[in-house]
Amino acid sequence: MASKNIIKYTPGFNINDVQKKFNIKKIIKLSSNENPFVSDKVTKYINNNKHSLNLYPESKPSKLQSIIAKNIGFKMNENNIILGNGSNEILEFIARLTLNSSTEAIIPKHSFLVYEIISRLQNAKIIVSKPDSDKNSANYLGVDLDSVKSKISSKTRLIFLANPANPTGTYIKLSKIDSFLSSLPQKVSVIIDEAYYEYLDPKKDKSAISLIKKYKNLFVTRSFSKIYGLASLRIGYGISSEKNIEKLKLYKQPFNTNLFAQKAAEIALNDHDFVNESKKNNDIASAGLIQLFNKLSIKYLGTYCNFITFEVGQNSKALFEYLLKKGIVVRPLANYKLSKYLRVSLGTVKEMNAFKKQLILFYNAKV
Ligand SMILES: Cc1ncc(COP(=O)(O)O)c(C=O)c1O
Repeated sequence: MASKNIIKYTPGFNINDVQKKFNIKKIIKLSSNENPFVSDKVTKYINNNKHSLNLYPESKPSKLQSIIAKNIGFKMNENNIILGNGSNEILEFIARLTLNSSTEAIIPKHSFLVYEIISRLQNAKIIVSKPDSDKNSANYLGVDLDSVKSKISSKTRLIFLANPANPTGTYIKLSKIDSFLSSLPQKVSVIIDEAYYEYLDPKKDKSAISLIKKYKNLFVTRSFSKIYGLASLRIGYGISSEKNIEKLKLYKQPFNTNLFAQKAAEIALNDHDFVNESKKNNDIASAGLIQLFNKLSIKYLGTYCNFITFEVGQNSKALFEYLLKKGIVVRPLANYKLSKYLRVSLGTVKEMNAFKKQLILFYNAKV
């Protein structure tokens, strides 16, 4: 077994650990890009109903799949959807379907670490493409599709692209992705990971789901952990051609999504007010933080998600530890090869005010 090839995913700090270490009661967790809110309708469903905890959940939750299909549009139906224990599980199914020890996966530099972990588990060779190096571009350090293209070989079987991307927060227009996909060899599959898609202005651009009928090797993944506020329940989904979904289902355990996750996802999808409020809160938090970054002359990367990655330079460890002592947890990015940056998730107004106050104190700035 090639266990030396395997790398570990380091999650954001655990609340209990920080509480214990610094003897702080209230922790503000801005390290894992969670929604600070939960839909009241989901909470009511969980609190006010009797649940059949003794029974297995639906193995094929077709009602939820139909609701998802209707919600995403583009003439998708329930057979275009596969549900997963988080969208991470779908990424894993696709890696298992497409990669083995004689193949290569292309992963853009600074991508979500899970891509590398699951590709290594398949013993595939990992080829890292260069990031966008244009400092004046909103896509700075994001995906450079030309570099990805230049890395394609006869062994390439899978390309991972998050759009918008974590941790760079950058976004590539769909028209560019479309022409990129049109240039690929038949054997190459592509994942467009849209875990943060709902934070984009819906009128600005279409989802890559709109290209599924055009490209037979295209997979799109979506998450309920972000704008739908269900990270703890672990549920996400993949969208592709009916034929591809049938193949992915061969890797799925019969009961991979649980009862609460299935029902909560259904409720959250239909709770449009909650989703709109979450987006509004995110926009306000983002604008307020950008304003402060500008005042403090702090450079930041893309702003298309529910977090912002900002440049701290040599002081990044010191700032991280300073915030930790004040009970505010953000994400260091050394294992994303962005050691001079920190990533902060966008929380409630109160959480953001606490973060901004400490940032001002750390820099001893007058604003
Ligand atoms: C780019 C990206 N894709 C996928 C995921 C995983 O989401 P899920 O909770 O649905 O497994 C995350 C989580 O942070 C992410 O940042």
